[in-house]
Amino acid sequence: MLTDFNPKATQAWEQLNGLAAKIPEQNVADYFSADPQRHTRCCIEWRELLLDYSKNLASDQVLSALLALAEQTPLRQHIDAMFSGKRINTTEGRAVLHAALRDPGNDNYRVDGVGVAPAITAEQQKIKDFSERIRSGDWRGSTGKTITDVINIGIGGSDLGPKMVCLALQEFAHPSLSFHFISNVDGAEILSTLKRLDPETTLVIVSSKTFTTQETLLNTQTAIDWFRRELSLEKPQQTSHFIGLTASRENAEAYGIPADQIIEFWDWVGGRYSLWSSIGLSIAVCVGYDRFTELLDGARAMDRHFQDAPLAENMPVIMGLLGIWYSNFLGAQSTAVIPYCERLSLFPSYLQQLDMESNGKSVSRSGEVVDYNTGPILWGQTGTNGQHAFFQLLHQGTRLVPLDFIATVNDPLSNPEHHRILLGNMLAQSAALMAGQKLEGTPSHKIYPGNRPSNVLLLQHLSPFNLGALIALYEHKVFVQGSIWNINSFDQWGVELGKKMANELLSDTGDGMEGFDPSTRRLSDYISSKTD
Ligand code: F6P
Repeated sequence: MLTDFNPKATQAWEQLNGLAAKIPEQNVADYFSADPQRHTRCCIEWRELLLDYSKNLASDQVLSALLALAEQTPLRQHIDAMFSGKRINTTEGRAVLHAALRDPGNDNYRVDGVGVAPAITAEQQKIKDFSERIRSGDWRGSTGKTITDVINIGIGGSDLGPKMVCLALQEFAHPSLSFHFISNVDGAEILSTLKRLDPETTLVIVSSKTFTTQETLLNTQTAIDWFRRELSLEKPQQTSHFIGLTASRENAEAYGIPADQIIEFWDWVGGRYSLWSSIGLSIAVCVGYDRFTELLDGARAMDRHFQDAPLAENMPVIMGLLGIWYSNFLGAQSTAVIPYCERLSLFPSYLQQLDMESNGKSVSRSGEVVDYNTGPILWGQTGTNGQHAFFQLLHQGTRLVPLDFIATVNDPLSNPEHHRILLGNMLAQSAALMAGQKLEGTPSHKIYPGNRPSNVLLLQHLSPFNLGALIALYEHKVFVQGSIWNINSFDQWGVELGKKMANELLSDTGDGMEGFDPSTRRLSDYISSKTD
């Protein structure tokens, strides 16, 4: 399958260690003085995206050594293996083919020699039909009224992707449909939402790859009870108020969702990569099927760039390598993504699942414990808000936090004055973090050490195409890192133990707390004793 290897055994890793030792004596600003062309050389312009990575704490020697690391590991082989449908998710025995979803009709995507294109085309046709019927008013509730409110019930990848994209593309949203995303098992979320809605005109999209997820099934049950109560329906889940999106038709049907109201996807689409599949139905309903396909087109274009561009001009490769530099050689524990665009406010939380569920691993592909850092803690929120919250630490704190600033050059939803000030702030922050300030005689609390690295990523417009490309860019960045760290980026066994223990704790056999530690037992007793 995939060649097992140890990245630390490469010559490049050793060289990078040597280069890292010299970093305390270096200044990013000096790289610019040494090379007046650095800002154009350390920059990749691709279609309507521009990545400026010149403000990184990485000299030319470091950048060359990072590229050598990519060459000396089987990154290229891994990329080919993913796109050719090999079962690279070995612990689950699955292929990883979300890229096929954004290239419908391409017969080259195969799992065990069987093409996936016909199945994709058939399900995409359903996304088209369903979304057009809902948008046009043709899809009606059980009392014959057209739909005004769509609730997506799902969690993790069955929530974060569609929710983030619907917000990001609000410029194109249907004028009279409202969208509600319910994920948390906290009943206050769904109950307060349902209170505001009219059941006659509400459609519930149950999004779950497995159709077994506790939170999603409980929220769905609460919605079913609401319809039953409000509309006197015996089995609301069997009416036009419910659609199921799943890789387990069997489970969705067993739950009562009518067979012709289910849109499927497949086990080779990971949950956190599923917004391109039927899980994207709420996106298609929100912005229209044509815009949904533009989103897929943008991601496909990024797939091609990732596959074809030379490593030195390859955006995901460069971003992935810089992340490795900070994590493995300069000791960074976290990385932050700061979109200077309020419509991208959910992008950091979307990326948290993408990055941390993918690369938060500590064993190699062959199951050995690795002795180097893997995925960083990813966090962030929009600028300028972040400037008034955590930027103090970024400028003067003791930790190294590499940043990605993201912005759109044009924003038709803003006005020139707001937008000029927004982008001005972003450029100023990125410049200030790098340059710092140490004026003669300045008291130490007013010193800015500078030398704090950032990428700036500009999108000419926040179009569906560019957003698709942006998301795929981060997917592939995560892939590059997982490949070089020799870990499986596509499983998520780490989430299982907590789920299992919650089931044990909540079991109604009476001995649910047996086997739990004293602290947890005491907390549980406290909750029971203080419950009103
Ligand atoms: O618990 C983690 C996880 O399995 C994610 O990977 C997934 O996106 C989420 O739960 C939801 O799963 P499902 O779509 O099967 O309900």
